[in-house]
Amino acid sequence: MASIKVLQNGPLLVEEDDVSVVDWNGSEYSVARLPVALCRCGASEKKPFCDGAHSKAGFSGGEPAKRNSSNE
Ligand code: FES
Repeated sequence: MASIKVLQNGPLLVEEDDVSVVDWNGSEYSVARLPVALCRCGASEKKPFCDGAHSKAGFSGGEPAKRNSSNE
């Protein structure tokens, strides 16, 4: 099972050896390295990947998961 880790004040880290990232047309992005870090701050110049710009942008995203919470 793939694991997606929400980093505090940072990207979504996809921890999986065999992962593909595709655009809205189904075209695959080249994945340079694993794990894959996906931007969630909107400041990256390399979207959908994180390029570290969240630090300069002062992105704040530290909401912890709640036990037994669902995504509904
Ligand atoms: S989360 Fe890292 S650049 Fe957006």
